[in-house]
Amino acid sequence: MAIGVRVEIVGLIILTMSICGESSSDTNRVYSPCGDARIQRKDGFSFGIAFGKHDDFFLVNGTSTSRLQLSPCDSRLNLQNNNAQLASFRPKVDQISLLTINTSANFQPENYGGYMVAFAGRKYAARSPPAFVANGSYTVSSFTLVLEFQKGRLENLFWKRDGCSLCKGNSNYVCLNNQDCAYRTNQCKRNGSGTEDCSLGIQVAFSGTDKHDAVFNSWYEVKNLRQYSLYGLYDNLRGSLSSQLSNLI
Ligand SMILES: *[C@@H]1O[C@H](CO)[C@@H](O)[C@H](O)[C@H]1NC(C)=O
Ligand SMILES: *[C@@H]1O[C@H](CO)[C@@H](O)[C@H](O)[C@H]1NC(C)=O
Ligand SMILES: *[C@@H]1O[C@H](CO)[C@@H](O)[C@H](O)[C@H]1NC(C)=O
Ligand SMILES: *[C@@H]1O[C@H](CO)[C@@H](O)[C@H](O)[C@H]1NC(C)=O
Repeated sequence: MAIGVRVEIVGLIILTMSICGESSSDTNRVYSPCGDARIQRKDGFSFGIAFGKHDDFFLVNGTSTSRLQLSPCDSRLNLQNNNAQLASFRPKVDQISLLTINTSANFQPENYGGYMVAFAGRKYAARSPPAFVANGSYTVSSFTLVLEFQKGRLENLFWKRDGCSLCKGNSNYVCLNNQDCAYRTNQCKRNGSGTEDCSLGIQVAFSGTDKHDAVFNSWYEVKNLRQYSLYGLYDNLRGSLSSQLSNLI
């Protein structure tokens, strides 16, 4: 299938606390999120996040009601004509990274469909289910994404949720669907009236094995650190701004 996604990110500011430069121990030469990589520890791994409407990530098969979720790399989704936005990241394998997208300036996820899908790979394409980010009423700002590998090949990406344990009893948040801690969008600065930053933070962790069968531990660490609110911990480290605006795919 031809890859035709050429969406440009406009006004999307991405901060990441993972190392942005290439490190000498990075042996992975696949830089596009739509390429197929087999990785080992200490490599960088490129993946993408696409923002769009929930249904834009699915292919409707003729008149039937069956829908197939495709990778955003798949041109059949026609994301480029649907005003989707793409961001690409390259965290270091088996490190815990916090990827943040500053939503207070120009990029308001609710104006781009309000859902996001994480993805990587072409022949071995993997994509997460769409996750709700924001609409006019609610904004979810904190996510945990787990990248699961088998022998160095990405098998699965999924959002890990913990049933609102971090916001239970905190009146600043609303617990959506018993899974996501959300702000009311009118609490957010970008709404014009609010005071909360509401920038998007995605904590990324790795699980499974690399191409030499070495086991990734970062997901295990996230699980155990979670009770101490890793997000708050990284908050202070957001100083180093790296714009990784993608001329993707
Ligand atoms: C669409 O439906 C037809 C008939 O039900 C089926 O043969 C085909 O595999 C489906 N295609 C996709 C992309 O799901
Ligand atoms: C996001 O951008 C706004 C405006 O440029 C800035 O004031 C704010 O501090 C940034 N937030 C973060 C978390 O970097
Ligand atoms: C916003 O999203 C929430 C959670 O998915 C949903 O319950 C609500 O109906 C949505 N509101 C609007 C105005 O779309
Ligand atoms: C702020 O949020 C309200 C809904 O809570 C919406 O109607 C309004 O358009 C938003 N304002 C801006 C400037 O985004």
